[in-house]
Amino acid sequence: MQLQDAVVLVTGGASGLGEAVVRRAIADGARGVTIADMSEDKANALAAELGERVLAIKADISDEDEVGAAIDATVTQFGRLDITVSCAGIAIAERTLDREGQPAALPNYAKVIGVNLIGTFDVVRQSAAAMSKNEPNGDGERGVVIMTASVAAFDGQVGQAAYSASKGGLVGMTLPLSRDLAPAGIRVMTIAPGLIDTPIYSFAPPEMKEQLSKTPVFPKRLGRPDEFAKLVVAIIDNAYLNGEVIRLDAALRLPPK
Ligand SMILES: NC(=O)c1ccc[n+]([C@@H]2O[C@H](COP(=O)([O-])OP(=O)(O)OC[C@H]3O[C@@H](n4cnc5c(N)ncnc54)[C@H](O)[C@@H]3O)[C@@H](O)[C@H]2O)c1
Repeated sequence: MQLQDAVVLVTGGASGLGEAVVRRAIADGARGVTIADMSEDKANALAAELGERVLAIKADISDEDEVGAAIDATVTQFGRLDITVSCAGIAIAERTLDREGQPAALPNYAKVIGVNLIGTFDVVRQSAAAMSKNEPNGDGERGVVIMTASVAAFDGQVGQAAYSASKGGLVGMTLPLSRDLAPAGIRVMTIAPGLIDTPIYSFAPPEMKEQLSKTPVFPKRLGRPDEFAKLVVAIIDNAYLNGEVIRLDAALRLPPK
């Protein structure tokens, strides 16, 4: 599939990795791009900057109705949905036992799973329903879905039990989703980023970012959001990529903390 003339939905598209995908999709000639994000102001500002091929919709991916409304609005505005890139996600760091021996708060665990895993599954299933109505291209493709996991799915650090479980869930469901959606001609891929320089690290003081940038093996720097977007483009373009997880991490392996 090609981005040229495609209709793309990007959850979490108002910032960071999702924003880079939105920008690249517009630059590569997408017919329309929907930014589905909880941050209405940022989504509106990006849409205003990029012009009429971008639609901004306020949507929380853990709300089934809001996900459905974002997909309906995409089809109404641009005629169909071809590609979904699911970037929306949250991280709440909490040790399973704190220093006083108190167990972690269960609602935090449930919240992370609710957004990152259940919310992403909802985005995939509702996107697939819309894509299944498309005319197939020459390769029989009706759609492409790309999920965003994390290297924490494999080497989760102290305090990342919930986050790693949520991202590990995305890794685990990549193959069964691709098998489920194969009859509809929809491919499913997952990217597991390492340390990419986005506003997700806005909490980090400069010395912490400097330290983080030394952890990848090569190149020894944080990744750039557009390097994520370039991989998204490669996955869309290559019809033989399906049911797999790709680490985008400069050979990084996260230490325990
Ligand atoms: N940046 C990294 O180093 C890195 C590494 C591994 C994985 N990731 C994953 O990549 C994804 C994007 O992260 P980022 O670095 O671009 O962060 P970011 O904070 O820059 O962007 C995340 C966007 O998602 C939106 N969002 C959050 N919860 C949402 C919800 N429930 N519904 C809709 N939108 C929601 C936010 O408003 C924000 O615009 C996340 O899933 C994150 O876990 C990032």
